[in-house]
Amino acid sequence: MIRTADRLHTVEEYYFSKKLREVRGLMAEGRPIINMGIGSPDLMPSAEIVSTIQNAVLEDGAHQYQSYQGLPALREAFADFYGSKFGVTADPISEILPLMGSKEGIMHISMAFLNPGDEVLIPNPGYPTYSSVTKLVGAVPKYYGLKEEYGWFPDIDVIEEEDLEKVKIMWVNYPHMPTGANVSKSKLEKLVSFAKRNDILLVNDNPYSFVLNEEPISILSIKDAKEVALELNSLSKTFNMAGWRVGMVLGNADHINAVLKVKSNMDSGMFYGIQKGAIKALSSSQTWYDDLNEIYRKRRDLIFKLADELKCTYDTNAVGMFVWAKLPSGSVSSEEFIDEILYDKNVFLVPGTIFGSNGEGYIRFSLCVSEEKIQEAIDRF
Ligand SMILES: Cc1ncc(COP(=O)(O)O)c(C=O)c1O
Repeated sequence: MIRTADRLHTVEEYYFSKKLREVRGLMAEGRPIINMGIGSPDLMPSAEIVSTIQNAVLEDGAHQYQSYQGLPALREAFADFYGSKFGVTADPISEILPLMGSKEGIMHISMAFLNPGDEVLIPNPGYPTYSSVTKLVGAVPKYYGLKEEYGWFPDIDVIEEEDLEKVKIMWVNYPHMPTGANVSKSKLEKLVSFAKRNDILLVNDNPYSFVLNEEPISILSIKDAKEVALELNSLSKTFNMAGWRVGMVLGNADHINAVLKVKSNMDSGMFYGIQKGAIKALSSSQTWYDDLNEIYRKRRDLIFKLADELKCTYDTNAVGMFVWAKLPSGSVSSEEFIDEILYDKNVFLVPGTIFGSNGEGYIRFSLCVSEEKIQEAIDRF
């Protein structure tokens, strides 16, 4: 019997990997499931992006290994994007590293900065990958609670009362998934000064800035944030390129070098055509963002109606690709609630608890579903 590594006992199979297997099983039985679970954009990237990758596959050298740091033109495109969208200046040679998605970046950063036993501040509720990766590298999650009444922003005074000696990284994610909470410059300033006072690497995971959000903001727009902060970004949601696997990490040259040391030992560069398509995406005109958001706005209005049918409440000012809704008081648990809907109405929603204990009493709807399907779901209630 071949034994698996001890680290495997620290994590469970990813919720979606397990639950979607069940959902697929129900579909195979012929059930008309409407999947409002995962945030995988169902719309196409722009036609220009698609033709760019198509043409790129015929270029000389397109099928060879690529640079560990990505094409210079891709790093420049990211730098221009950060300059024009966030007012952040970054050196494309030393301060930007293209990644195969930002999920992978969470592992790279953790491997670059965490020793076994180090502690990591992780939002509850939050993206489950922060804690699973922390455990996989032998570090210890230290959850900080986010609550609706505080705008899903941490109480820094409370965190600072604790012993932070072993804390090495703090994950933040604004706009926040799953709640859709946004953040102001002054709140980001508080986070940066907290990280400086306590010598903590602050990483903002920022893939939702451009979805239904009027004011995109980067943590690196805060003065001197680069001393302690990194930011992850991704083309997955902004440009409907989730399956392409392309994102980046931005920060000071020392931090980026540390990440590159890990990454260059794990992969052998990103496919040329993907990089060319990404360069095209990053120069998209404002019309791209406006048209995409128009579609998501219409879908969100319908999701609000569906949430009304379920007697749930929600924040109409929230941003991002999901609607986070509070169950009516006296409801069963979030998991029981979504299971009842799945089995009775053939609609798959996500229970808030998969994002942490503070997600109890909430459910999440994805906007990656067509208006017709959302209307059909409403009709089923
Ligand atoms: C908060 C958050 N971070 C990161 C990711 C991963 O995105 P990517 O496709 O860039 O790996 C997701 C995807 O769902 C997410 O919700």
